[in-house]
Amino acid sequence: YRVELDASDISKGTYDTFMLKEIDEQPAVMRKISSHYFDGKKINVDQKMLKDVADADRLYIVAAGTSYHAALVGKDIFENLADVPVDVELASEFGYHMPKLSKKPFFIFLSQSGETADSRQVLVKVNELGFHSLTMTNVPNSTLSREATYTMELLAGPEIAVASTKAYTANIAVEAVLAKAMGELKGVKAAQDLDLQGQLALAANAIQTIVDEKDKFKKIADDYLKGKNDAFYIGRGIDFALSLEAALKLKEISYIHSEGFAAGELKHGTISLIEKDTPVFAYINDGVGAAHTRGNIQEVAARGAHVLVIASKQYAEKGDQVIIPEINEMISPIVSVVPAQLIAYYASLARGNNVDQPRNLAKSVTVE
Ligand code: G6P
Repeated sequence: YRVELDASDISKGTYDTFMLKEIDEQPAVMRKISSHYFDGKKINVDQKMLKDVADADRLYIVAAGTSYHAALVGKDIFENLADVPVDVELASEFGYHMPKLSKKPFFIFLSQSGETADSRQVLVKVNELGFHSLTMTNVPNSTLSREATYTMELLAGPEIAVASTKAYTANIAVEAVLAKAMGELKGVKAAQDLDLQGQLALAANAIQTIVDEKDKFKKIADDYLKGKNDAFYIGRGIDFALSLEAALKLKEISYIHSEGFAAGELKHGTISLIEKDTPVFAYINDGVGAAHTRGNIQEVAARGAHVLVIASKQYAEKGDQVIIPEINEMISPIVSVVPAQLIAYYASLARGNNVDQPRNLAKSVTVE
């Protein structure tokens, strides 16, 4: 098969790194997903696939790495918009320790590359069991795309930097497209009410305002992470899922030990690691969790943590350092991950690391 690339896709252009270029491409990716998957109000997805997946009594989303984190965000989106229970599974665990499945399972594989061996071994088993599956991937015709029943494309364009950025945000957007289509088919009010095209347009603009403020995030990386060996991202609900991805970005390219934590769980052990000037990045985009996360911020601040609050506009308070433009909460990680991508980027750069090709990591891991 042929992959159509234009030169701008695979060259760095005016950028020093692919990662920064790919971070900056995210507004355009959001617009592309919106125009590809929507035809006026009509959602452009394979109708046979839609019926098949909408008929399931449970979705099993299987993935690794950053794609796994996109799956954790997707759980909320599918449960809300498509009114279906969702299990999110690590590919490397699930294939060998398969839980008791529901009566009518449907499998969704998330894979930027479509080549991850851990995910593929699960798909092989799913096929043997005769269940239907969908792969959401950035690479149509990849192994996971060919071997699954259906494919949805992420449309992020080639992602070269090892640390995944635009594929994560694209994956959340494509999950939202499918969830909305399923919900509309099933008559779910939350799906009918959500103006996803409008939200993706808002997301594109919001990301743009963030990437236009690069100096601010460079300064944050300097102020909070210079000379540091440990850092934490905390949040609740949707912000917990997001914290895992934010921490992964930081550790994979800066080599700073970082953990994403459920804000309320910190006090059950891990808070013992907080000492004077330990960087803690707290997310407040989740309305239900907002007040409690504020409490957790006080707990770590009282122990000397150097806290940065990243809050969406509707929950922001005076003194919060990073304000995220208002956006539907379910898909808010599309926007609120971007500060974390930039902070990781500048922390890595400041340490003189190879941003695009961090040590020990590969873009796609084809061994189990
Ligand atoms: C590798 C990459 C990660 C990626 C993971 C899953 O470990 O370094 O960035 O998230 O594989 O890759 P996939 O292509 O399946 O999304």
